[in-house]
Amino acid sequence: MTQNPQFKTTSIVPAKRMDQLPDYLFGKLNEEKQRRRREGIDVIDFGMGNPDMPASREAVEKIHQVIEDDKAHRYPNPAGIPNLLKAVADHYDEFYGVDLNYDQEVVATIGSKEGLSHLALAMLGPGDRCVVPAPFFPIHKWCAVIAGAEIQHLPVTDNAERMIDYMEKLDRTPKLIFLNFPHNPTSTTVDLDFFKTFVPYCLEKNVIIIHDFAYKDITFGDYKAPSILQVEGAKEIAVEFTTMSKSYNMAGWRCGFCVGNSRMIQLLTRIKSFFDYGLFTPVQVAAIHELRHNRDQVKEVARKYESRRKVLTEGLERYGWDIPYSRGAMYVWAHIPDRYREMGSLKFAEWLLEEAEVLVSPGIGFGPAGEGHIRMSLVENTQRIRQAVRQIGRIIDL
Ligand SMILES: Cc1ncc(COP(=O)(O)O)c(C=O)c1O
Repeated sequence: MTQNPQFKTTSIVPAKRMDQLPDYLFGKLNEEKQRRRREGIDVIDFGMGNPDMPASREAVEKIHQVIEDDKAHRYPNPAGIPNLLKAVADHYDEFYGVDLNYDQEVVATIGSKEGLSHLALAMLGPGDRCVVPAPFFPIHKWCAVIAGAEIQHLPVTDNAERMIDYMEKLDRTPKLIFLNFPHNPTSTTVDLDFFKTFVPYCLEKNVIIIHDFAYKDITFGDYKAPSILQVEGAKEIAVEFTTMSKSYNMAGWRCGFCVGNSRMIQLLTRIKSFFDYGLFTPVQVAAIHELRHNRDQVKEVARKYESRRKVLTEGLERYGWDIPYSRGAMYVWAHIPDRYREMGSLKFAEWLLEEAEVLVSPGIGFGPAGEGHIRMSLVENTQRIRQAVRQIGRIIDL
């Protein structure tokens, strides 16, 4: 068949910004996983942080109920229906003692990833510098890159003085920094003192903070993760993102929030109004229900991740693979044992998939600072985690 020259694929030239985006590192591993599953091999999947537990029955029933109302099929209120914004503000008041004006200091987003990306577009552009502690959750870096900002990395740390030292060593004060505690991928957590030291520094230097608080409820033992907005003055320079994805197992529903500095909330709302129409109304109503009434399931979700973590780390320790304790997040961030370190994290992950039939994320997928590690998402039940430990134990020799 002769090709119509009008339809030559070479005429499709992407925008320059596409050249800046990296290859999808997890793509090959995911393809391998799919191939194996098609062959009937039961790969145990610790790859993506995609919750395996269901949303509450009540949330599902709410969706059924609201979808019957024809009015709910129209374009929604793009910034979030007032009752939802109020539920978020009340939640902050109840859990963190933080006072938020729901009208000006809260906006609903189509998941926090959407909100983070659009806020980066609203706040950053060519000539702006943005700090992303590394290793990093990919969107923290790439949303700033897409916005045209210059990126500077610092090591992730739970020590605010050390963080300030790193900031002081930069040749120029950045405009903005991303924080994320409990942290993905390293599961680093902080106490309120961290923010009490770091926020005044940023206030003095005029550095904007975007705190990604996706794992706010995924905490273990007596530990409770602090909100950055608990620090006096934080609202002058900071916003915080939360999500229904992890605490409420509503990852596919796409529902998150940005709260804090009213100017940034206004800018995010404005830029979003050019790109989207907000969240499907039944999802918003179900989220109100969950924020107002779902207490027990959230605690149960955290308890499950805690016990899964224990089973995985104690199991691997029995084979000589020591993993430090963490107080939160749904990930085990593990050093590659010395004996296998030279392979690099991508090859090591491929080897685990090939020989142990266990999928993990290579640390390099979270930037060069993640090399030497793998991340295991705790999205399999304890029985399958025990099975994974046995399969890994069969091949590693420490
Ligand atoms: C740190 C962090 N922020 C945000 C997200 C995305 O959350 P959402 O589902 O609300 O977009 C994730 C998902 O894994 C995450 O790890």
